Amino acid sequence: MRFAIRNPQSGYVMATVTIDTVGKHDGQSVTICGWLTHKRSSGRIRFLVLRDGTGTIQCTLIQGETSEQALDLYPELTHESSLTVTGTVRRDKRAPGGYEILASSIEVLQIAETYPISPKEHGVGFLMDHRHLWLRSSRQQAILRIRHAVVNAARKFFDDQGFTLLDAPIFTPSSCEGTTTLFETDYFGDRKAFLSQSGQLYMEAGAMAFGKVYCYGPTFRAEKSKTRRHLTEFWMIEPEIAFADLETIMKLAEALIVAIVEEVLETRRQELKLLGRDITRLEKIQPPFYVISYDEAVQILKDAGESLPWGEDFGASQETIVSNHFDKPVLIHRYPAQTKAFYMKNDPNRPEVALCVDMLAPEGYGEIIGGGQREDDPVILKEKIEKAELPAESFDWYLDLRRYGSVPHAGFGLGIERAVAWICGFEHVRESIPFPRLLDRLYP
Ligand code: 4AD
Ligand code: MG
Repeated sequence: MRFAIRNPQSGYVMATVTIDTVGKHDGQSVTICGWLTHKRSSGRIRFLVLRDGTGTIQCTLIQGETSEQALDLYPELTHESSLTVTGTVRRDKRAPGGYEILASSIEVLQIAETYPISPKEHGVGFLMDHRHLWLRSSRQQAILRIRHAVVNAARKFFDDQGFTLLDAPIFTPSSCEGTTTLFETDYFGDRKAFLSQSGQLYMEAGAMAFGKVYCYGPTFRAEKSKTRRHLTEFWMIEPEIAFADLETIMKLAEALIVAIVEEVLETRRQELKLLGRDITRLEKIQPPFYVISYDEAVQILKDAGESLPWGEDFGASQETIVSNHFDKPVLIHRYPAQTKAFYMKNDPNRPEVALCVDMLAPEGYGEIIGGGQREDDPVILKEKIEKAELPAESFDWYLDLRRYGSVPHAGFGLGIERAVAWICGFEHVRESIPFPRLLDRLYP
């Protein structure tokens, strides 16, 4: 990539190249724009390591080859100072990217103040307080590039299969996943609005118009849980399909995860290696995944000495036990209806269970996908809304979907940060999103 910047001193426009492409300019003079990550000197040679977002490169300053002005600037250059380096690209087997730059001149844009993040160990609290700067580290860049690949792969997966992207609103008049976890906000003084917990209900409307739709956007949960899996703001991709049942979306969820892992392995292997991820674990993510019922999951827990009365939902520790049991994702279907949201359809053959599914990632990661078949009978759905003590007037539009040509339909939601945390192999979801929002974190 080539672009131009205006030289702050002389005012003329310089052609520059990015670090990832210097190899194409071997032997030529180029200008690199970036930030100083470190510097060192050895005898009469000085080295600057520059970062520009596409990579890092070593620039060598040598008396006689490099301008006096650049050599004089060297002692003043601090970590994260912004500068441009002009010089000749030289192939060097020892250099990390295979090339270095023999600098002829330097232009400083700014000498940075003392940078708060040093190579020494910092606590996560400190790093999170400096998240806006922490993003410059190679590890954080690797994670967020993997996140980008995950999102791209998911969107491509749905686009290629004829789904229409339909953005769901963020301001909503009502809850979807449960009233206790709603963020409330004032809407022009006369009404309340709630931040969306899921685009699902709107995707159901979309599925009745387009057949197959998905949304990708931020969702909000006012969960007072301080676990390694919970963000108060997270991103979810949610497909919804008309004329579909639980089986359809279980297959779809499996294919989606296979496509995502494949894409990350193909395009972000370097980043996975930088994070120290055991790649063989990801290479195992091939169909078919394991499929078990809630009842079978309860039995696995029982065998592990963790008995759970039938009818109760799994907590984080139970999910960990079940997901540790498998080397690939496991789909758990037909949870007790009482543990699930009002919109779930009960199994006609066994009304005490819902036609729902959760996918748990392996290695103890737990739930990454939740979804199921929706209640399509207007009478039953109305009863469920009443039973859940939800405001009937907010759901009148939703009931319309069952009044005018109701059909079996199903969908699910994949939490992007949970998927990224699993793929990267982290304990906690907080580094899987650029600026995490947690129970105790709203800054920066
Ligand atoms: O299981 P959930 O609550 O399902 C729904 O919201 C459905 N309405 C989706 C649908 O059917 N269209 O959330 C789905 C996924 C979870 O499996 C998890 O990956 C993620 O969203 N998730 C969270 N991620 C981070 N922090 C939280 N607090 C999360 N809550 C859910
Ligand atoms: Mg769930």
